[in-house]
Amino acid sequence: MRTILIVGNWKMNKTASEATVFMRDLLARVPAQPANLELVVAPPFTALESVRLVLGASSPIQLGAQDLFWEDHGAYTGEVSAPMLKGLGCRYVIVGHSERRTLFGERGDLIQKKIRAALKHGLRPILCIGETLAQRDNGTTDHVLTQQVHDGLSGLATEALATITIAYEPVWAIGTGKSATVEQAIAAHRTIRQVLATVASPAVADCTRILYGGSVTPQNIESLLASDQIDGALIGGACLQVESFATIATVASVARSTGV
Ligand code: PGA
Repeated sequence: MRTILIVGNWKMNKTASEATVFMRDLLARVPAQPANLELVVAPPFTALESVRLVLGASSPIQLGAQDLFWEDHGAYTGEVSAPMLKGLGCRYVIVGHSERRTLFGERGDLIQKKIRAALKHGLRPILCIGETLAQRDNGTTDHVLTQQVHDGLSGLATEALATITIAYEPVWAIGTGKSATVEQAIAAHRTIRQVLATVASPAVADCTRILYGGSVTPQNIESLLASDQIDGALIGGACLQVESFATIATVASVARSTGV
């Protein structure tokens, strides 16, 4: 069974000192040893160190970054590399978030370079993909998802592909309060899993976690995780308050224990 993964993407929120206070509070509230659940927080680069210090060595929460650059070092003003993130204790890194694609012009070839850099240094990439509302309305959702998976992952070695997570995030659902329905998410996840079977292998497709992201809340997380097609969530707004993120973690920690 795939372990549920819940990732909190803080985006450009919280200073280093706010992060320290938040993490102390959060650690006191999340399930201590979640059996079938991995919890990750992805603060801004500037708060990674403070979060790491609060988490310590044996925390139930792991550290992730929101982006990375593909070179290891050099004259790339403003960028942060995979070895730098590793050095701060990151295990995961989000790649190709729709805000990076739309606001910073990231394309498939750049996204694949970032994925390769993450893998080279033992970071686990979370590749974000998703259609816009116009693409959904004109019936091209499956085509867009297929293209984005190919752009991000084609040509990678099968062993490398086995460490990747995909986050399906319909652009129209991000930060809008309008989550995809469970049926829409399941359909998209099935499409993605089929594409993975061809890009990687049926075995890799079967073990790859596909998260849903886009207006996930303490109210809708249970119904999303009730489907065995939805292996967790990438959470924006609802991860910024201790109460809502801790509630989501608690719901997720018991989500599959009844064998749904
Ligand atoms: P949201 O953001 O939960 O605020 O919709 C999700 C995301 O951008 O990953």
